[in-house]
Amino acid sequence: MLDVKAIREDFPILNKGIMYLDSAASSLTPEQVVLKEMEFYREYRANVERGVHRFSQEASEEYENSHEEVARFIGAPSKSNVAMTKNTTEGINLVANSVDWKKTDKIVTTVIEHHSNFITWLRVRQRHGTDVEVVRSSTEGLFDLADFEKAIDDNTRLVAVTHVSNVLGCIVPVKEIIEIAHEHGAKVLVDGAQGVPHIKTDVIDMGVDFLAFSGHKMLGPTGSGGLYIADAELATTEPLCIGGGTIVDVSIDDYVLAVPPMKYEAGTPSIAQVIGLGEACRYLNRVGMHNIEEWDLTLANRLLDGLKDIDGVEIYGPKDPKQRVGLATFNIKDMNPHDVALTLDLEYDIATRSGHHCALPLMKELYNLNSGNVRASTYLYNTLEEIDALIDAVTEIAKD
Ligand SMILES: Cc1ncc(COP(=O)(O)O)c(C=O)c1O
Repeated sequence: MLDVKAIREDFPILNKGIMYLDSAASSLTPEQVVLKEMEFYREYRANVERGVHRFSQEASEEYENSHEEVARFIGAPSKSNVAMTKNTTEGINLVANSVDWKKTDKIVTTVIEHHSNFITWLRVRQRHGTDVEVVRSSTEGLFDLADFEKAIDDNTRLVAVTHVSNVLGCIVPVKEIIEIAHEHGAKVLVDGAQGVPHIKTDVIDMGVDFLAFSGHKMLGPTGSGGLYIADAELATTEPLCIGGGTIVDVSIDDYVLAVPPMKYEAGTPSIAQVIGLGEACRYLNRVGMHNIEEWDLTLANRLLDGLKDIDGVEIYGPKDPKQRVGLATFNIKDMNPHDVALTLDLEYDIATRSGHHCALPLMKELYNLNSGNVRASTYLYNTLEEIDALIDAVTEIAKD
């Protein structure tokens, strides 16, 4: 069981009087991670893999240890399987830009994707004429696997699907989708931006080919993230950028790229951020991902239970908390979601997010919502009292 009171002591920002319910946008950062980043700047700040002096040696060792920690966190066989990126978006773009797309290829994605895992594929279609098929979900964000069976065929080169919707909180059956894709020889990229922070992730068990995730949504620093690349894809997956650090040899006429992960690390990497992300993984491991999942469900239960009984409030996403993470989006009848979020902040000290959450296809296709909705998203440091405070506040706002 997770000790929320003890956890909250690691997040002094929580003493500022704000109830933070916006972790799906970006999580808070515990002191351990802040201090680890500061340690780099204070104790051994230097470039990595580029110097024989002791600062560079120490920085390189910390950097590599963190890289290994991040790889272990998602169950990757080695750090060679993880390209450090600045966020999920960069990881997805790396894959999109690495494939020699053909007109006859097909990409299958879904209507609930974040723009990062959607417009990237529309751009591939614009540039290469590649077919893009969008699988629809129910209004709750639930899929019928038969729709994937229909959409994925032998021309399908990539299936790009999120593990967890950042709008509906629903958990997508990625393992089953991966099985269907692999039967047709298609590769699968899972957008793990919302999944990795909340659900114990094991890329081998999942069977995924690519998994992109963001450090800043899992207690890590902004500017940190990763892209898992399965062994079989390492040789053919090209880096997004090349340059210093990515080669084994260069002559006047040619160059030879280094082996992974070096070939993905062009230029000076985000050293402090990667070191911080390693510490965030250690922190999450200490708390235990299974405990986090359990607490998530408790918070999701309370959130849905409370919101569903308020007159004039519409909730989006699955009704069953077991089908989602601790995240709920809602609207109050006749009110603009931005006004609701502003009132929550100004009058109730509750931070939520409002708008389309970078998921316009979902907003338009499933709900016809022009201004989007309000999202309350939780993480391991949130309490049931905070959820109750949100429910009381929404009840009062809805009465006005
Ligand atoms: C499901 C999902 N995918 C992708 C992203 C993009 O993440 P980032 O902005 O860290 O690249 C987000 C961010 O909210 C997200 O929720």
